[in-house]
Amino acid sequence: PARSNILVLPGDGIGPEAMAEVDKIIAWTNAEGLTAIETDVDLVGGAAYDDHGQAISDAAMEKALAADAVLFGAVGGPKWDDVPYDARPEAGLLRLRKDLALFANLRPAICYPALASASSLKPELVEGLDILIVRELTGGVYFGEPKEVVTLENGEQRAVDTQVYTTHEIDRIARVAFELARTRSNQVCSMEKRNVMRSGVLWNKVVTATHADFQDVELSHMLADAGGMQLVRAPKQFDVIVTDNLFGDMLSDVAAMLTGSLGMLPSASLGAEDATTGKRKAMYEPVHGSAPDIAGQGKANPIAMVASFAMMLRYSLGMADLATQVETAIANVLDAGIRTGDIAGSGITPVSTSQMGDALLAEVQKVVAG
Ligand code: NAD
Ligand code: IPM
Ligand code: MN
Repeated sequence: PARSNILVLPGDGIGPEAMAEVDKIIAWTNAEGLTAIETDVDLVGGAAYDDHGQAISDAAMEKALAADAVLFGAVGGPKWDDVPYDARPEAGLLRLRKDLALFANLRPAICYPALASASSLKPELVEGLDILIVRELTGGVYFGEPKEVVTLENGEQRAVDTQVYTTHEIDRIARVAFELARTRSNQVCSMEKRNVMRSGVLWNKVVTATHADFQDVELSHMLADAGGMQLVRAPKQFDVIVTDNLFGDMLSDVAAMLTGSLGMLPSASLGAEDATTGKRKAMYEPVHGSAPDIAGQGKANPIAMVASFAMMLRYSLGMADLATQVETAIANVLDAGIRTGDIAGSGITPVSTSQMGDALLAEVQKVVAG
């Protein structure tokens, strides 16, 4: 296999715990000659702040820019509640997304058959669920200017965040959604708030215009609030959902719970294809955060992290077969009734993070052996 350089950023809380289980899989696939992944590990988030006062160092950013892909754990936690806004752990993640220009965030929500009963919805509503949220990741209210707090003459404070989108930003994320829909069930639902937001009107107009190049894909539009409602009412009506940065953040947490736990959902954040090399910058991370409530207790579910690694194999390393084998291993382990606490439900004794990781590795070995 071709050599690849991966920057590993475990981060805070359960980030490093989940990442350790991916390390085990990489060690094995490298030893077997299935991959030739060279990893470099660095600090991000609160861990980086504690070390050098910034949520990510310039040196780590340089490494991220040079790597074939970045594997990211999670950042944040109550310990850093009072650090300056620009140095808070989450700022490290946002800088990575922005400076690597990772505008397309793919958040698949798949309900594994064995977990249909772990969802907060009735099993028949989520059984076989397979949706893909395509979230715009470098624009919108996350990055729009002005973004500030000003003190008024009367002593009151006024905080401003700006929602802003350009035609280009909307067009390129719509193209990603339409192209991915072609590899799935050929349906895209675009969500915005055109009834109250100028950016929603533009979003709707541009997605509709871009659709002219994808006539074979079925396009529908939904107001984002109604979309949230439909996601919990009848989630299986959706194939691909394309939406902005903030709505995508919220709707993907909703979608995550349909699958049983936030600890199940992976994501890929992709940049534009380089015209000469055909390569895209990419970062892979679970949708969940640092889970301070369970950090350090060996309770974290590493599946979202391992599934993010599988997405890296598929989208950055060109190893779709190995990616599918890792995903099959996840499904098999769940079928075997092996569960961390978040998906155990009643009647199953939960295993620890590392026991789940060991079970996943053993199953990957079995699946690869055929
Ligand atoms: P969270 O995702 O960390 O946790 C929400 C709930 O889900 C918690 O009860 C947690 O125990 C549970 N959970 C999450 N992942 C799990 C896993 N793998 N296994 C088992 N249970 C899991 O969200 P939060 O509590 O709102 O945020 C905590 C911190 O994480 C905040 O600082 C937030 O900004 C940050 N955060 C970071 C990322 C990221 O790094 N990508 C994403 C979301 C939140
Ligand atoms: C996510 C997280 C991040 C976001 C935070 C930690 C900056 O919630 O990746 O979903 O809001 O995008
Ligand atoms: Mn989120």
